[in-house]
Amino acid sequence: MHEDSAGRPALRALARAKGLRIGVAVSAGPLQDDPVYRAIIGREFNVLTCENAMKFGPLRPSRDAFAFEEADAIVAFAEKHGMAVRGHTLVWHKQLPAWLAKEWRNGDAAVDVVRGHIHTVVDHYQGKVFAWDVVNEALDATGKWRNTPFLRAFGPDYVKMAFHWAHEADPAAKLFYNDFGADGLNRKSDAMYRLLEDLVRQGAPVHGVGLQMHVTQREPPDPPSVAANIGRFADLGLEVHITEMDVRLEAPVSKAELEDQARVYRHVLAVCLEAEHCDVFVVWGVTDRYSWLPQVFPGAAAPLLFDDEGKPKSAYYGVCAALR
Ligand code: G3I
Repeated sequence: MHEDSAGRPALRALARAKGLRIGVAVSAGPLQDDPVYRAIIGREFNVLTCENAMKFGPLRPSRDAFAFEEADAIVAFAEKHGMAVRGHTLVWHKQLPAWLAKEWRNGDAAVDVVRGHIHTVVDHYQGKVFAWDVVNEALDATGKWRNTPFLRAFGPDYVKMAFHWAHEADPAAKLFYNDFGADGLNRKSDAMYRLLEDLVRQGAPVHGVGLQMHVTQREPPDPPSVAANIGRFADLGLEVHITEMDVRLEAPVSKAELEDQARVYRHVLAVCLEAEHCDVFVVWGVTDRYSWLPQVFPGAAAPLLFDDEGKPKSAYYGVCAALR
């Protein structure tokens, strides 16, 4: 049994008892250099997502090269610790390599590049990655098609094409559509539902949706609304993963806000546990020190389960409470 220093069962043990896999987004640098970071992951989690290492840009320094080293190191750590790996992400408009820009002009070349990328990457991780975020964030805040290079080059069918290419490379992998701001019932999740309904109707090899769950303590998700949203995707025969949860606070952080944050984690995880087909729950970072949020939202603070020094926060005990 994985236990923490006080002999308490670790999150992964509590989660397994509930048929849930609980995971974390990981970067290769701190995994290699920070023993506190590494110890928390090895003790508490049984699913890993590469925070950046499996994205198009980090994998592809040039048209003819694949840089798998960082992602391979994370996958090797996962395998050593009996953890599953979520692949993130094959098609996304961010972190694209500069060389890709000139490929878009020629439609056939662009298809070859994107199909080749998906086939090579999914093939490389066949049997090591159990679920892929095949397409990430294809919809904008209003639920319309986000104007990305993929949309401009291939039209809306790029989503279906990407799922078919991933399925060709690894028929056993579970293939997900992943997005943010669509956690409860709203205009964007309605559009996401219509997109997935369309893909399922067309027989595309899509198996689930990822709700990223990047939320704030000030405007937390509404649990019944999240439950209804998860339920309608389950009615399409799809699994739902909570793929990137963090709960943003604003510095300076009060004890009351940390308690609020713990409640947000607990309520979302409780919805996931009560749902029929929501059995993966991933938080987007190991300790507050490594969160992406302060770089993007100045003043953002303390979004994760462990503080800067790697000590469990109220949020950690909120997750434990949901699991018990
Ligand atoms: O690796 C380079 C480094 O060589 C360079 O010196 C440095 C300074 O420019 O940049 C480094 O790359 C950064 C990368 O993180 C690795 O640290 C990128 O600039 C930076 O933009 C990138 O941010 C990531 C962001 O996605 C990219 O948009 C965050 O770490 C990551 O947490 C965030 O995660 C996304 C999910 O993939 C999708 N859902 C939303 C979520 C938050 O944006």
